[in-house]
Amino acid sequence: MSGSASKSTTKPTSAEAKPVHSVAPVVHGAPAHEGKSASPVTGKADSMTQADAHNHSIRTENVSLWYGNFQALKNVTINIRQGIITGLIGPSGCGKTTLLRSFNRINERYGNVTTTGEIRVLGKNIYDDDVSLSELRKSVGMVFQRPNPLPISVYENVMFGLRVHSRRREISRQQSDEHVEHALQEVKLWDAVKDRLKKKATLLTLEQQQKLCIARLLPLKPRVILMDEPCSALDAEGIEKVEEMIGNLREKYTVVIVTHNMAQARRATDECIYMLLGEIVEHADTSQLFLNPQKKETEMYIEGRYG
Ligand SMILES: Nc1ncnc2c1ncn2[C@@H]1O[C@H](COP(=O)(O)OP(=O)(O)OP(=O)(O)O)[C@@H](O)[C@H]1O
Ligand SMILES: [Mg+2]
Repeated sequence: MSGSASKSTTKPTSAEAKPVHSVAPVVHGAPAHEGKSASPVTGKADSMTQADAHNHSIRTENVSLWYGNFQALKNVTINIRQGIITGLIGPSGCGKTTLLRSFNRINERYGNVTTTGEIRVLGKNIYDDDVSLSELRKSVGMVFQRPNPLPISVYENVMFGLRVHSRRREISRQQSDEHVEHALQEVKLWDAVKDRLKKKATLLTLEQQQKLCIARLLPLKPRVILMDEPCSALDAEGIEKVEEMIGNLREKYTVVIVTHNMAQARRATDECIYMLLGEIVEHADTSQLFLNPQKKETEMYIEGRYG
């Protein structure tokens, strides 16, 4: 089956109208490809879209998503620029997490999910039949609200993803030491933990745990990092440090961050997308969106009048 998009924007009612990305009970192009080694989303865009892929890491066209009969995303068309930090804001339940999870097809884990439309990551349609989910999720890493390090050492947390994706004995001790130091340096955690790499990660502070959760994505060489309210469990000092660290990921990575914290959205993002009831209301430079919103709904939300 081709991975081209269904342009249907209403809930399909017949077998013919059923969208191509029906995820339950059979996931289109998914588990069968888990073990494939070909990487579909490492920058090798389809030829027609190579120029676009250069500027935009993620492009969606008319993406709609249903949980059962409930439509959570409605005709979402957005372009997310490469190498910047894009914020996703909007009231609770508007679909921020759902949209974020659609970029690496994590929504499919939730069962009974139907997606229509097209999602391109680094120029590649992520619903194409040759897409390997494990490669997609290496290229598009994700961190969640609560840091979730594994109850193993700091060192082994950083190496976990790489070990899962590599054959035994493929990584020498020296290489793995380098991966660990490099990843922890990138998230500004190295100095704090270099003398206790064997310590259980769950004993770190929440701020350090969240940095570690980002660090453990890095040996897999992601191009896009998705963050779902990564600071919501942290205190003010932790928030400041994690925001500073996220700022340093600019250029090398494309970061998409969901936040409920408007001050954080203003401080920490370059562009912002405002969502409401599953739709994109406005997408603009962050300063533009906050100083001169083009839509009444955006203005009301950022002024704190609802949500
Ligand atoms: N697994 C699921 N099954 C059924 N409905 C879901 C599921 N996940 C989310 N929803 C519904 O989809 C809508 C969008 O949810 P989503 O979590 O994406 O919103 P959100 O903007 O991230 O909200 P919040 O700010 O509270 O995190 C909500 O109405 C939610 O109840
Ligand atoms: Mg959410």
